[in-house]
Amino acid sequence: MKKNLFITLEGIEGAGKSTVIDFIENFITSSGYDVVKTREPGGTAIGEQIREILLNKNNDKLTDDTELLLIFAARAQHLSEIILPNLTSNKIVLCDRFIDASYAYQGAGRGIEQSKINLLENWVMPDIKPDLTFLLDLDPKIAFERTNKRSDADRFESEDIHFFEKIRQYYLERAENEPERFRVINSELSLEDVQEQIKNILKDMV
Ligand code: TMP
Repeated sequence: MKKNLFITLEGIEGAGKSTVIDFIENFITSSGYDVVKTREPGGTAIGEQIREILLNKNNDKLTDDTELLLIFAARAQHLSEIILPNLTSNKIVLCDRFIDASYAYQGAGRGIEQSKINLLENWVMPDIKPDLTFLLDLDPKIAFERTNKRSDADRFESEDIHFFEKIRQYYLERAENEPERFRVINSELSLEDVQEQIKNILKDMV
């Protein structure tokens, strides 16, 4: 495995990212590599404060542009403090969501023009792209059944099913356009099957 691999994980809420990211982290560690697990928005003290603003359901006045700019502000901090230094020191960086989520949620979900997101991408992260992105794909109907019981839904989780249908569709199109980077995993499969697929993909990179 290339030592300074940048791996990201994407998917709608309810697709099971948290369990899968722990599995990936354990697999990489037990294969003898140094891995730094992190997340967006967040991953730094400043980024986590921005995350609180973004996820707080009481912030119903937050505009779509403000949301996008805050996400990129957190990302700029994250790149500078965590992602770039760790890749430079030959660590594998494993990130729960990254740039694809901005195109999916703010672009497809909120309807912000791609050119605006593109502008921020070129500003904040001109030279970096994930080497490998796992997309945990799940029908939002099933995701909703899985997460419906949560009474503490955050600002994103409180969106309706159409929001997540647009996001899912966009993620799949993006994955199709970049097959060398994306690996789409069917999240309806059992956890064992999902883990087996991920293991096989990671093994191939050793
Ligand atoms: P999480 O629930 O997976 O931790 O992610 C927090 C939320 O942040 C999730 O609902 C998606 C949202 N998000 C965006 O809308 N755009 C982004 O660029 C990122 C990284 C996350």
